[in-house]
Formats: sequence, structure tokens, C-alpha cells
Amino acid sequence: MLVMAFNGSPRKNGATAKLLHKALEGAASQKAETEFIQLNELNMKGCQGCYSCKKRGGKSYGKCILKDDMTPIYKRIEQADALFLGTPIYFHSVTSEMQMFIERLYPYCNYKGYSSNFPRKVKIGLIYTMGADDQQMEMWYRKYTKMRQAVISWAMGAAEAETLISTDTFHVNDYTKIVADLLEPLVDRKSKHKHQIFPQDCKKAFEMGARFTIQDTTA
Ligand SMILES: Cc1cc2nc3c(=O)[nH]c(=O)nc-3n(C[C@H](O)[C@H](O)[C@H](O)COP(=O)(O)O)c2cc1C
Repeated sequence: MLVMAFNGSPRKNGATAKLLHKALEGAASQKAETEFIQLNELNMKGCQGCYSCKKRGGKSYGKCILKDDMTPIYKRIEQADALFLGTPIYFHSVTSEMQMFIERLYPYCNYKGYSSNFPRKVKIGLIYTMGADDQQMEMWYRKYTKMRQAVISWAMGAAEAETLISTDTFHVNDYTKIVADLLEPLVDRKSKHKHQIFPQDCKKAFEMGARFTIQDTTA
């Protein structure tokens, strides 16, 4: 069993990384091999829209012709049983690192019948962190995260997919050091959230990692 996590945050020790590591700990608790990839450290581009991966009768069909740090990752994810994609919300969207990674999954999208060229039945966990509180998340992001889950499930022909959303995270550890008069009044609430809710989100991430890794012995 191989379980991989991709961190879309440039911060290696931020909230997203913590949740992804928890998911991998959960997978490791079920004896999975785990791998954490910091997308920001990869030298890669987004999809170039060349459609080589869709070329009729072409040998590049289902494959990306770009040669960069994503190239070996295709081989690796094709061996994985579960993939966790984690990203902070930046400007009401995923980060540019995560967007690039998702775009590069395009070779797996199969337009013959909305199926997938991905060779395995993989489980997908999507993890989001955000400064927004629960109410703002429902208003701004719930629908968006559902759409993302649906489209990534199609691209990857996912056996299962789940989304975990962690709200009200800290932008920085010390708000007095940045110019953020708008955010400073939120610090008390965010602090409570950090100590009471975030640990629960970590537990949920751990459980998702373990659940995705437990072998189905009924088959
Ligand atoms: C450039 C930038 C844009 C952001 N935009 C949003 C946003 O649109 N909505 C939101 O809720 N939080 C936004 N945030 C806050 C981050 O989503 C939040 O702090 C996140 O948990 C950071 O994750 P990390 O600790 O893993 O880096 C933004 C942060 C940055 C740096």
C-alpha cells in the first residue's frame, strides 16, 4: 500500500502540512508506505493546453509530453492506493502550486465517456485550510469544494473521495508583527479555534488516512 500527500501550501509547517502529515500518520498506522511531496519545491509547469495527451491514435495519448519534475511523479502516483491533496485557500481558490498539479492530471481525463485513464482505483482525500470562518466557508467555498471533488474524482476514476475543510486558521503566528488591523480582532476567536477545533480536524485527517488504507477483505 502506498499513500501519498501533496502539499499545495508553500509553507512546510503550516496548517495544511500538519493535516496532511496527520493523514499520512493514519495511513502509516495501517502499515502503508507514505510519501509527502512539497509541491513548491518542484520545478514544474501547469498544463500547456497542447492536447498531446488526447491525440487520436498518438503514442502520447493519456500521457503528458512535458518533461519536468512532474514526470517521475506520474509513475509514482500510478502505484498509489490513496492520494491526499492539501491546499490553503488563496484568493478564493487553491494555491497556484496545487492548481498546476491538478492541471497536470489532465492526461487521465478521458472524454470517450467521462471515464479515466488512471490505471488504478485510487482513493482521493482533499484537504483545505482557510482563514475564513465556518459561516464564510459555507457561503463562499462549500460549493466550490464539492465541484473540485467531483472533477478530480472523474479525472482519477476515484474509487472513493472525501473532502476535509479546516476553517479559521492562523494567517501568521503573531498578528502584531504584520499590518492587519482587520484581522487582529479575530485573534481570540482564532486562538480558541486553534486549540479546540484544529486538533479535531487533525483527528479527522488521521482517521481518513487510516480508513483509506484499511484493506477491504470482503472482496
Ligand atoms: C496570498 C494569500 C491569499 C489568501 N486568500 C484567502 C482567501 O481567499 N480566503 C481565505 O479564507 N483565506 C485566505 N488566505 C489564508 C490562508 O488560506 C490560510 O492562512 C491557510 O490556512 C494557510 O495555510 P498554511 O498554513 O498551510 O500555509 C490567504 C493567504 C494568503 C497568503
